[in-house]
Amino acid sequence: MELDPGSVDPTELYKLQIQIITPRPIAWVSTVSADGVRNLAPFSFSSGIGTHPPAHLFCPTNRGDGTKKDTLRNVEATGEYVVGVVPYAVREAMNQTSADYPPGVDEFVKAGLTPVPSLKVKPPRIKESPINMECRVLKILHLGEGPHGSNVVIGEILHIHIDNAILRNGKIDPDLVDTIGRMSGPEYCRTTERFEMLRPKM
Ligand SMILES: Cc1cc2nc3c(=O)[nH]c(=O)nc-3n(C[C@H](O)[C@H](O)[C@H](O)COP(=O)(O)O)c2cc1C
Repeated sequence: MELDPGSVDPTELYKLQIQIITPRPIAWVSTVSADGVRNLAPFSFSSGIGTHPPAHLFCPTNRGDGTKKDTLRNVEATGEYVVGVVPYAVREAMNQTSADYPPGVDEFVKAGLTPVPSLKVKPPRIKESPINMECRVLKILHLGEGPHGSNVVIGEILHIHIDNAILRNGKIDPDLVDTIGRMSGPEYCRTTERFEMLRPKM
């Protein structure tokens, strides 16, 4: 199959893109609105960027009607967010926070999750997530306007919380953190099957 992305309907292209880029880590993003309402939503177009500065990115696209998602409006208004990882045990709650609730709705309450005050930013971290990173916005890129327009939020990581329960010999144990990844449609994957490969030495 050969494709010119410019000639494909955006919804179809999105469906294809999420089949191409797999698996994707899920950034569970906590924000607060300008008037202090909490918000929580998952974003799988997300990644770490690097360590100098320690940085993270996620991509809240515009909705089909061209409006901005609450998370994007909140980071634009406050410049702050907290990103948590998603273990298998809380997959249902994470999914619940992806529902398209109106701006005044607190997804922590809807999904039965526990907000814990952060140290350096206003949005709370998620108690049910064993790793949370407090971030301050470095840059927001608006790459496309209107329906499905792409946006990139880049944040500097100011503080990292790691639950001691997922550490073994001072390292994060992948079996204990048990993160899930997003595939396409309703499909997810687990990180329970792993293998090792050493980098070549020249
Ligand atoms: C696992 C998962 C990953 C998602 N990834 C993204 C994403 O990368 N970008 C995006 O715009 N929406 C993504 N969504 C949809 C948003 O979570 C959804 O639109 C949510 O309602 C946005 O909430 P907000 O309006 O409170 O910001 C994802 C949903 C799920 C379940």
